[in-house]
Amino acid sequence: MRQWWQDAVFYQIYPRSFADSNGDGIGDLRGIIGRLDYLATLGVEALWISPFFTSPQRDFGYDVADYRDVDPDYGSLEDARELIVEAHSRGIRVLLDLVVNHCSAEHPWFKAARASKEAPEHDWFIWKPLAGPLPNNWKCELELGPAWCPNPATGERYLATFTQFQPEFNWRNPELRTKIYDTMRFWYELGVDGYRLDVSTAYIKDEEFRSNPFSPNLVPDMFQRHIYDRNRPEVFEIFREMRAIGGDEKVLIGETHGRDPAMAAASYCEGEGLHLAFNFDLFDAPWDARAMRTTLERWYELLGPESWPVVTLSNHDRPRHAWRFRGRTKEETEGRARVAAALLLTLRGSPFLYYGEEIAMSCRRIPRAMLRDTLGIKTWPIGFIGRDPERTPMQWTSAAGAGFTTGRPWLPINPDYEERNVEAGLGDSSSTLARYRELIALRRATPELREGGLRFLDAGPGVLAYERFLEGGETLLVALNFASRSGALDISGDWEILIGEDGRERKLAACRLKLASLETLIAKRCRD
Ligand code: GLC
Ligand code: CA
Repeated sequence: MRQWWQDAVFYQIYPRSFADSNGDGIGDLRGIIGRLDYLATLGVEALWISPFFTSPQRDFGYDVADYRDVDPDYGSLEDARELIVEAHSRGIRVLLDLVVNHCSAEHPWFKAARASKEAPEHDWFIWKPLAGPLPNNWKCELELGPAWCPNPATGERYLATFTQFQPEFNWRNPELRTKIYDTMRFWYELGVDGYRLDVSTAYIKDEEFRSNPFSPNLVPDMFQRHIYDRNRPEVFEIFREMRAIGGDEKVLIGETHGRDPAMAAASYCEGEGLHLAFNFDLFDAPWDARAMRTTLERWYELLGPESWPVVTLSNHDRPRHAWRFRGRTKEETEGRARVAAALLLTLRGSPFLYYGEEIAMSCRRIPRAMLRDTLGIKTWPIGFIGRDPERTPMQWTSAAGAGFTTGRPWLPINPDYEERNVEAGLGDSSSTLARYRELIALRRATPELREGGLRFLDAGPGVLAYERFLEGGETLLVALNFASRSGALDISGDWEILIGEDGRERKLAACRLKLASLETLIAKRCRD
């Protein structure tokens, strides 16, 4: 049976940077509530909100000290309730970010665990003796140090592969599992529609704690192939258990970590594990039609018939795609962002947008003194390994504070906000924002785009083209010119343009079609 999450367009909100309702410079839940009408007009049908739970903010919410409450930076539990109700009343579903590979070192469970070996919580975490050499080569990725952190009180080290403030759970302990599953039920009862599962393929570690082999890749591998600290097949059992809790109405989308798309594909467990799994290959693909096609074909081939794809180009951990795909000029960069939007919203699979991409927000180097992300501080002066550049505040208006805040923003606003902002985009029918709205509306109205098959077509250099079709339904043609010069595609039959650039005729007949630089063309085959 077809499920809502196969049809929905998703939108990720990084709450700290979306909208600040009280002038403290930090985005919050009331800020999101105030922008729900905007999101409804944009046409998105589900939100994934990055963590807003109680947290010392060592990793900006990815270090949770209480899974059942809201951090005062973001508001209260009452605000969360209201957000869920208000979103639902606009037909928008809400997904929370469940961070349960680890918690915060300030979580009462860890405080009890580290105080004494006798505490019932002790075995909910992972320990090795303090004396002697480090147990293996695993890394604390965001701090670039060893993953084993001393805990003199018990004469042990605990495992933490992100920062030392994020001790990792021992998922082999059944009581711990029950605790986490209860947390999932708690939010389901408050009405949330599913979870994005943070580093979900890291929950289980190698039983023998073997050292990872070398990898030549810095990002995201950090020079190790993560086959022992992550990506263990034992994790699939947890996905099955989690799915049983919420059934298929509540969606589970995994951050299936690392470079190996086969692991992401396997996380669906043939229709019994995750409902959706992120594949980050498009984050590494260059701006090139052929490379994109190869990447996509590989991903589609890996997925079995019961595995529904996800398509995404950006999130809060990697530089935004408008920046990754930037051209030599502002126009070229903007043009590419529009082609990327058409790609994301016409492929087969649930699209995930990252806040601000609808106005082609970009990244820029942030001065050392203003960096907030541990990884950014540790890897300074390399500018774009740290994650602050993709987390700058949403650009709503050209007013001071970009309409994000009336105070001092927690991260500097990109100075291009004066021209690049939502208000300007809404007032301009040729803006990138207008294009996103057009594409989302077309996707919502067109079953071929939402659920149809996809067939790549051979096209001239620089052009990516495919058809989307349903048996007994229509056939759509998507032609995207990635190049900044003209491109070509042979078409047969008659077509009616649904989305295209200004000046193009509304009808097409069989021809060698010439596409202008960075042109997007979406057409429907005319019936005889
Ligand atoms: C995920 C999050 C990232 C966080 C890490 C540790 O990769 O997306 O932001 O730092 O997990 O929780
Ligand atoms: Ca605030």
